[in-house]
Amino acid sequence: MGSSCFSRGNKKTLQAVQKYLGNMGLSAKISIVGSHCLDKCVHGPIIKINNIRYTQVDEFNVIGFIESFLETHLDK
Ligand code: FES
Repeated sequence: MGSSCFSRGNKKTLQAVQKYLGNMGLSAKISIVGSHCLDKCVHGPIIKINNIRYTQVDEFNVIGFIESFLETHLDK
């Protein structure tokens, strides 16, 4: 929710994430928490999933980052 990331589309990215989690039935299992600037604005917009940082995130690539994380970090 830092101003740089937010001004470059994180509002739409957040909406895409919320829609995806809802469609997948994961809304109650995954928490979304906003943060202030992560001091890497030049690489933003940025999201973190657990402690993994993803850079240059937008509404189009964010779902791929989430799915990649879920595939490698959660039991199937
Ligand atoms: S506002 Fe996102 S890293 Fe600075």
